Amino acid sequence: MTERDARRGFLTRAVHAGEPADPLTGAVGVPIYQNATFAFQSSGEIDRFLDGDVPHFIYTRYGNPTVRCLEVKLADLEGAEDAMVAASGMAAISTAVFHLVAGGGHMVVSDTLYPIAREFFHDSIGDYGASATMVDATDLDSVRAAIAAETRGVYIETVSNPTLQVMDIPALAEIAHQAGIPLIVDNTFLSPALLRPLEHGADIVIHSATKYLSGHGNLLGGVIAGRRETIAAMRGRMEQLGGVLSPQNAWLLLNGVKTLPLRMAQHSTNALAVAEVMSRHPAVETVNYPGLPDHPGHARLGNMTGRRYSGMISLTLVDHARSRNVFLDALTIPLKAVSLGDVASLVWPFDEDGVIRLSVGIEDTEDLVTDIRRALDAAAAWLTERSTATVAT
Ligand SMILES: Cc1ncc(COP(=O)(O)O)c(C=O)c1O
Repeated sequence: MTERDARRGFLTRAVHAGEPADPLTGAVGVPIYQNATFAFQSSGEIDRFLDGDVPHFIYTRYGNPTVRCLEVKLADLEGAEDAMVAASGMAAISTAVFHLVAGGGHMVVSDTLYPIAREFFHDSIGDYGASATMVDATDLDSVRAAIAAETRGVYIETVSNPTLQVMDIPALAEIAHQAGIPLIVDNTFLSPALLRPLEHGADIVIHSATKYLSGHGNLLGGVIAGRRETIAAMRGRMEQLGGVLSPQNAWLLLNGVKTLPLRMAQHSTNALAVAEVMSRHPAVETVNYPGLPDHPGHARLGNMTGRRYSGMISLTLVDHARSRNVFLDALTIPLKAVSLGDVASLVWPFDEDGVIRLSVGIEDTEDLVTDIRRALDAAAAWLTERSTATVAT
């Protein structure tokens, strides 16, 4: 990022960063360089490249012009020295962590994480000769106590999936730094439009780009952003592990990211309106949204995000075992699908404790509020009917 670019606002940078007009043709919008290999003009050019005198793309697993434009844009938006992209969020997580624990290291990890990431740390990392201790990362003393001589990093989600816990990034960064280790933060739920963890002391930021960065549910992707030398070392691992992002998906992401700040504003507006309706509705047992004033992370997150809280809500219904499906089937706008961060609202029931996760989309606020209120009314009416029928029998 040049000094001039750093002074520009987030909307401007989301559109322009990393995307000069194509130097060959003047094409506006980065072309898809859909090729595996790159030719050199002469043996002399090969020699100059091998001597490190001139940069050159050689093979798409090592780098690709479309993919590189995306990495430059994402580094700019996260305020990072550099960024690299991966074939999925899990490819980003596993590449970063394999690098950190290489040779048998240990990680201190939040015990509330995206379930597959949790499985990776909890069940699988030992298969690779490394180890992890899962802790309640909102309890700073537990984090401090779990750090050992061989610990190579503290790993959290800024806002956890699906429990919506808000982590204290500055305090966790201080604890990690006192031990001389990095704080690694999965920022998928917020995106850099709402929070840039590096500004608050984190060292490495990870994303499932499949979610808000893409916004359109049309690809899988992952991101790692941080210091130049960290990214160079992790890129080296990725060259061997092989989980690179395709040029086509990089191009889709370049398009998605351009509207990220606009989408995040609408996700946040809609989710707050929906959460407020839920918080007052008799069919709702609990609603978990950091934008509600009684959420334990409300003030902490709001102070870092300019009081925008993203689009993720989780809720449980009264008598959820019986009312959940009435609610889900009465919804006409949210699609019953996993994943999140899409322009379309997505709703998904989790097995544990009747939790329903709603990823609030960018539809009209009034349409969403009406649809969700009607579905909650249907659940409440059904519960009343059932209790009346039970009393009568
Ligand atoms: C917070 C978080 N991190 C990482 C991932 C994994 O991303 P991907 O599905 O792109 O591999 C997910 C997926 O849902 C997620 O929610």
